[in-house]
Parts: sequence; structure tokens; C-alpha cells
Amino acid sequence: MADFRLETDRLVLRSWQAGDIERFAAVTNTPAVMRWLGGVMPPEALSATEQRVLTCHERYGHCFWLVERHDDSGPLAGEVLGFCGLKRADAPGSPIAGAMEIGWRLREDAWGQGYAKEAALASLRAAFLRFAASEVFAITVDGNADSWGLMTRLGMQRRADLDYQDPRYEPPLRDTIVYAITAEAWRAAQA
Ligand SMILES: CC(C)(COP(=O)(O)OP(=O)(O)OC[C@H]1O[C@@H](n2cnc3c(N)ncnc32)[C@H](O)[C@@H]1OP(=O)(O)O)[C@@H](O)C(=O)NCCC(=O)NCCS
Repeated sequence: MADFRLETDRLVLRSWQAGDIERFAAVTNTPAVMRWLGGVMPPEALSATEQRVLTCHERYGHCFWLVERHDDSGPLAGEVLGFCGLKRADAPGSPIAGAMEIGWRLREDAWGQGYAKEAALASLRAAFLRFAASEVFAITVDGNADSWGLMTRLGMQRRADLDYQDPRYEPPLRDTIVYAITAEAWRAAQA
């Protein structure tokens, strides 16, 4: 599968290369970033994460892309900020299994600057225009207001009818909440 690369005003979203997982983990495998994601990951979980993004890219041509700040000037120039992108929903017990799912995880010192929204807007555009998704879903838990806040800022709608329990986690991380945006709603918002 050919490499993927997408640029926004401030960011590069691209497929993963050898060594990226270490650079990614160095800045995102922290208690603050992993607070709603089951805590800091041990090395074997990190390699499983890497394997998942590589497999998703190979299979579908998209994945949770690595997000870097353009190498220009200012804080974080040229740095890995985290990931954002598109996978296929695959959580056990999920009623949206196989559907297009958008996700994000940025280093803490990149929060509050609109980087996640910038990367997510570009990912949604790719989902609808490049990968022909009919609908894009996002999942989180009720406590993760930073994440569902971004979902609402992106124009996604709460889909309580699709909420589910993820048996890999204990409550409250088990109680997954779902948001979605249809291609139709996305197109209408571009007008
Ligand atoms: C979820 C997450 C990606 C959200 O990141 P974020 O930086 O809060 O989201 P945004 O990019 O939309 O930034 C919004 C903030 O940037 C501010 N901002 C500053 N400059 C901005 C700009 N140029 N454009 C837009 N917003 C800007 C906004 O005012 C807003 O600030 P506020 O929260 O004080 O109102 C981040 O909290 C994260 O990585 N969390 C840990 C991992 C995680 O839980 N992932 C989700 C799992 S479900």
C-alpha cells in the first residue's frame, strides 16, 4: 500500500514509518494523555498499537495517521504531536463494527491550540471525499469531555442508541458513548 500524506496549514498527517512508534510513545504514553484510555501502556501494548495502525493502513489505505507539526518555527515545530485519522471500528461488542471511525490522541503540550480539530477536519474530509464513507463515527466515554467536546465542535451528533459496553475495560471506561456525522450532514456544512 502506497504511503499516505496529507497537509493542513500547520500539520502533516502521514502513514507510520519505522521508529515512529518510539517517537510517538515518548510524547503521548503519559498519565495525562492516557487517562481515559486505560492508563500508560506497557511496551507490548505499544507494539500492538503499532501493528494495528500498520494493518489498518495495509488493508484500507487509511489509519490513525501520525500527526506532526510543520517544520517551520515556534513551539513544537517539526515535532510529533500524536495521531489522528481513520480506522474501521473493531471494539468487541461494538454495534458499529466495520464502520469508519475517527480518532485522535495528542501530546498534552499540544492541547488547547486547535491542532486536534485541524487534524480531525482534514481526516473527515478524507473520509468522505477520498475514502467514500457514508458516515463517520467516533467513540469515547462520558468523562472525556475534551474528546466529546471535539466531536461536537466537528458537527458530530450524539448517537445514544449506539452506545455499548466494551468488555476489555472496567467501568467507567467500559461505558462507550458514540457520536456520528453522515456524509450528507458533512456536505451540507461545507456549503
Ligand atoms: C481529545 C483531544 C485530542 C482534544 O484536543 P484539544 O486540543 O482540546 O482540541 P482542539 O484541537 O479542538 O482544541 C480546542 C481548544 O483549542 C483552542 N484553540 C486555540 N487556537 C485554536 C485554533 N487556531 N483553532 C481552533 N481552536 C483553537 C480552542 O479555543 C479550544 O480551547 P478551549 O478547550 O480552552 O475552549 C486531547 O485532549 C487529547 O489528545 N486527549 C488525550 C487522548 C484522548 O483522550 N483521546 C481521545 C480518546 S476517545
